[in-house]
Amino acid sequence: MRMLSLIVLLSITTAAYAATVVYDFNVSWVTANPDGLAERQVIGINNQWPPPRIDVQVGDRLIVNLLNSLGDEDTSLHFHGLFMNGSAHMDGPSMVTQCPVSPGASFTYNFTVDQPGTYWYHSHNKGQYPDGFRGPLVIHDPKTPFQYDQELVLTVSDWYHERMSVLQPRFMSKYNPTGAEPVPNSALMNDTQNLTMPMIPERTYLFRIANIGAFAGQYIWIEDHNMTVVEMDGVYVHPTETSMIYLAAAQRCSFLLKAKKETSRNFPIIASMDTTLFDTIPPSLNPNVTSYLLYNNTAPLTSPSPLDSFTPLDDTHLRPHDNVGILPLPDQAITLNISMNNLASGANYAFFNNITYVPPLVPTLYTVLSSPNSSQMTTNPSIYGTYTHPYILSHNSIIQLVLNNLDSGRHPFHLHGHNFQILHRSGPDEGPWSRSGNESSYNHEAPPMRRDTLLVEPNGNAVIRFKADNPGVWLFHCHIEWHIISGLVVTFVEAPSVLQQTLEIPEDHYAACKSKNRVIPTEGNAAGRGDSNGGDPKQWLVLDGEPKPPGELHSGFTGGGIAALVMSCLAGILGVAVVAWYGFSEPVSAEPINSPAGAAGESGSSSGSGSESGVYPDADSAEKSVENSGGGLFDGAGAMKTPISVVKIKRGTEAVESEALSFGSEEEAVNAVGRGMGMARRSGGEVNKKGKKGEGVDVDAITRV
Ligand code: C2O
Repeated sequence: MRMLSLIVLLSITTAAYAATVVYDFNVSWVTANPDGLAERQVIGINNQWPPPRIDVQVGDRLIVNLLNSLGDEDTSLHFHGLFMNGSAHMDGPSMVTQCPVSPGASFTYNFTVDQPGTYWYHSHNKGQYPDGFRGPLVIHDPKTPFQYDQELVLTVSDWYHERMSVLQPRFMSKYNPTGAEPVPNSALMNDTQNLTMPMIPERTYLFRIANIGAFAGQYIWIEDHNMTVVEMDGVYVHPTETSMIYLAAAQRCSFLLKAKKETSRNFPIIASMDTTLFDTIPPSLNPNVTSYLLYNNTAPLTSPSPLDSFTPLDDTHLRPHDNVGILPLPDQAITLNISMNNLASGANYAFFNNITYVPPLVPTLYTVLSSPNSSQMTTNPSIYGTYTHPYILSHNSIIQLVLNNLDSGRHPFHLHGHNFQILHRSGPDEGPWSRSGNESSYNHEAPPMRRDTLLVEPNGNAVIRFKADNPGVWLFHCHIEWHIISGLVVTFVEAPSVLQQTLEIPEDHYAACKSKNRVIPTEGNAAGRGDSNGGDPKQWLVLDGEPKPPGELHSGFTGGGIAALVMSCLAGILGVAVVAWYGFSEPVSAEPINSPAGAAGESGSSSGSGSESGVYPDADSAEKSVENSGGGLFDGAGAMKTPISVVKIKRGTEAVESEALSFGSEEEAVNAVGRGMGMARRSGGEVNKKGKKGEGVDVDAITRV
């Protein structure tokens, strides 16, 4: 049995002992079946899936050597939540800070980490990460402002049975005029289900949880245990107790949990997908994933008890531990109105201020670096193109964003390169922000909470503020991957002249722009025009040929109109099909037919069809899911479906049931991690053994001593 848990002797490692941590990521397609319902191709790392956790410590240098062995897709890697101050070219989004890495090519990310907390990494190339290329990234802090005995890292995510290359074209299609996002097939915890986490009585655990999903927010709670939240998105907070948290896609949280003294029972920890985001709830969907705090090996793993409603902690009510006060009044205020609409292709697009994002011909960062600053081109937003939707931010200015969600769905907005203060967030349906300039109408705490991803309510608004103290090209976007695909993205070009003077691009980054099949220009404006060698600077203002979205629909032919047309056609076809089916089938018994919310024909209806309480609409399918996943299921009235006790324990239980291993030194511990994760750690310039691939890691226990 492999012992996957380990103790890193953090006390030995001080800030003075900054290490270089190297991960080799050979990225390729492998197969996996994390929910036991469907085997599929996923993007694995070093032939393993789930991908490894990245573990570093504040002050370390992190090097990730990415090799694209996918064969059929480009890729790139983003380190979500890391500021990348001074290394903006390592941020990772394709066509923003780098060229996509084509099959066969490699690319090195190399930067220092100077912020503690819970983060994650993911592909930032064309809606790719839901295929499995995402994992947790933890930055350990020898000086945490709170005490605990042991860390447990958990991810939650939604899961699809089909590849993004199948789902994307279906989503962005005239046959999906309402923009209904594909509904996930299941929910996962640590890329599996029915995980057990052994608890040692009275020990204080630090749980780090990241939602690495593509779409669904998750309600998370643990029966009969309170959670003391101490960190959100890398920001330490004044400890705050709660019985439930909500993590939108891309958000993270850590909390302290004190294990009970009593060991007679085990307790479920449940993550339940926010089904209000889904346009339909397929009868086969189990929105919940359940794992267990295991106090007693011989006691049963009982199904979770039903809940009447979800009552998660409101993150805007937290206060940052560093008590940093509200930033001064903004130098630049930007209002972004969020909407969805159809374009001439018939597909549904997402807009900030009526602009839907389309990537440029030259990665935006390379436009910055190649532009003639002497003729004021670098700070001229025009050169970055219309559809990258650029805003130039001046160095060290205070920026305020007003987000008016004119859409009927919740959106988690994420800013690269920064976290931001939350000055105001409205409830649902409060409409656009209208009290401009009136500080007293903000509803923030004092001091205001900061984070890097904020959920904005349907038809609601939010006001956020940050300091542009990090020269770079930073995306601001909705972190629902479907909405990145449909264009809900703007580009902040922050302090471009400073960037031009300070940033050096390594050769392998430019080399990634050239492959057998294509060459991506590394100079010029968004349309690839203009050069850096003293040509006519006016060429930089010519955008002919820049990539554009499809044109606008002819007036009078609205998205709703198309929807109605398609739906009535579908209804017609369905009608004929049903008649034919009845005609040919045997007589059926008079069983009641359940009609779950959002059944065929209602796919256009928005959030309303979902339920607030993790509801499971169809008894039949509930049984199916019980068989399949053993998850806790609730029906509309909050009553429990056939309770069962979960006996099927899947992959990785060895890892979590094993006792923590002790190591004599940090070096030893780190080498053990290396063996588990295909990682090598260098310190003081000396290279330690390169690890070979290990088995899947579910929960590693990292114990502070
Ligand atoms: Cu996780 Cu563009 O981000």
